[in-house]
Amino acid sequence: MRLDKFICKSTELTRTEAKKLLKSGTVKVNDVVVKDPSTQVHENNTITLDNGASERVLNARTSRYIMMHKPADTICSNVDEVYPSLLHYIDLDKAFDLHIAGRLDADTTGLVLITDDGRWSHNIISPKKDCPKTYRVQLRNNIVEDNQNALINKFSQGIQLQGEKDLTKSAILKIITENEVLLTITEGKYHQVKRMFAAVGNKVIGLHREQIGNIKLDEELSEGQWRFLTATEIQSF
Ligand code: URA
Repeated sequence: MRLDKFICKSTELTRTEAKKLLKSGTVKVNDVVVKDPSTQVHENNTITLDNGASERVLNARTSRYIMMHKPADTICSNVDEVYPSLLHYIDLDKAFDLHIAGRLDADTTGLVLITDDGRWSHNIISPKKDCPKTYRVQLRNNIVEDNQNALINKFSQGIQLQGEKDLTKSAILKIITENEVLLTITEGKYHQVKRMFAAVGNKVIGLHREQIGNIKLDEELSEGQWRFLTATEIQSF
């Protein structure tokens, strides 16, 4: 990790303040003054703030892992656009240092995982990891009983999305009612679920993510609420 980032993570300082501090020559890495903010440091380095009168050893704050029930009309971004970032709901210090592991559309609700641990979120986001995500989908057109098995097979074999070269990866479709289904996909293409149903002549009118990997949206959380993940949930990735 960069030294200026380490200082931010272990103090209340902003990145600019951390750089100023470095310039002042009061930061030591393993007893040597270091001024370059891009210096790479590791957990086994001893990093101290030494102002001549006293010395303070810095410990990097451990990473944060959060689940949130995303409300509609919010966006999975660190900057506000037409809608506000859902990070506004997180009443923690430096909430905007966190990032969102896997985006949902503004009108989609449900489970979002948020962290500042890039290695951990890589397991969720990377296309190579095939992380399953389950969505509850409300459809405009009923899937009549005679067509249900054919549709399940089609989703399992892969759907040809408009503008894409390859079929989607195998997806699991579970019919709940004629116009409500559960869909599990292992990819995260732009508007993927909506485009998959559009490709079979239907339209998604409601979309809610219930599960990512083994982590299920906590039923106790109403829209806009969040909680820290348990150790078991964190370790599941
Ligand atoms: N697929 C979509 O179409 N939208 C989402 O928000 C997530 C998956």
